[in-house]
Amino acid sequence: MNVLVTGGAGYIGSHTVVELMNAGHEVIIADNLSNASADVIDRIEKITGKAPEFYRINCCSEILKSIFARHRIDAVIHFAGYKAVGESVRMPLQYYRNNIDSTLSLLEAMEYGGCKKLVFSSSATVYGPDNPHPYKEEMPALQSASPYGWTKVMIERILTDYVTAHPDFCAVLLRYFNPIGAHESGLLGDDPNGIPNNLMPYIGRVAAGKLEKLTIFGGDYATPDGTCQRDYLHVVDLAVGHLRALEYAMEHSGAEAINLGTGKGVSVLELVHAFEQANNMKLPFTIGARRDGDLPAFWADAEKAKKLLHWEAVHSLEDMCKSAWEFARTH
Ligand code: WQD
Repeated sequence: MNVLVTGGAGYIGSHTVVELMNAGHEVIIADNLSNASADVIDRIEKITGKAPEFYRINCCSEILKSIFARHRIDAVIHFAGYKAVGESVRMPLQYYRNNIDSTLSLLEAMEYGGCKKLVFSSSATVYGPDNPHPYKEEMPALQSASPYGWTKVMIERILTDYVTAHPDFCAVLLRYFNPIGAHESGLLGDDPNGIPNNLMPYIGRVAAGKLEKLTIFGGDYATPDGTCQRDYLHVVDLAVGHLRALEYAMEHSGAEAINLGTGKGVSVLELVHAFEQANNMKLPFTIGARRDGDLPAFWADAEKAKKLLHWEAVHSLEDMCKSAWEFARTH
């Protein structure tokens, strides 16, 4: 099958491209490299033995249409988008313009190319602050705490409306929890520009001696050890989840939201200790003030993914910590 992957050079996108290629699919990547490096394409070739087709483009209508004119695309996985929560608060217009426009352009290009199968990169952030955990797909999921999160909410809405108008279209809305870890080859991983916002890349830089110590944001939450709990899942499990979602989309129509998480909550302190144990090191950290906008605890109800996609996360926290360190140590 020919699969167009927008944002295929990014952290989750690149891992997904590898899984698609290993499963025998032809992959066409569209990525403007605004938050990724061209080396990733070479690394994908190193891992899979084959270079994916790569277009360095912005996801605007005319250019995307030209890709559909050139290739018979059977399905699309749409990762392209800005994703930094804090930055989105400072630059809301850029986030709405970029994330929403690219999705509308993609839908227009898909219509032009007669392609009716889409897997979208959504987020657990759409559950907003008021739902109890574990989060279930049928809960109201129409709010968020940041412009970034709102773009996910709005795009879910756009796709749902599109499916109402085109009942033979299938949109799988994958709501990710917290992906961490790296590819076993050591060639792909989470390598953000500048000082990382997310926990695991930050831990990696501290472990590598590039940052002095980790500050844990808040030690007085109403959780078992006072630090926030999240549902951390291995990025390779997440990538495999996209493959299953694609298989599901090929057989179904309609809009379907599906959580991809492990179903377990892990606290920041537990993650720090798991990292220390897996990699046999001490990690300097201090407990600091709470970070604005953080929820105390949430994790997935992972049953729907099991039932509809026959998918569940298989990698352990130790795998996540070892692979994350292997990547951080060598990059
Ligand atoms: C995890 C935990 C922090 C850094 C966000 C987005 C979400 C998704 C992934 C994607 C929290 C704590 C962190 C640090 C810390 N989006 N922490 N010290 O906030 O759960 O989710 O990223 O692209 O949509 O909201 O992830 O990794 O930032 O934080 O103590 O230096 O680690 O307080 O409890 P988060 P995170």
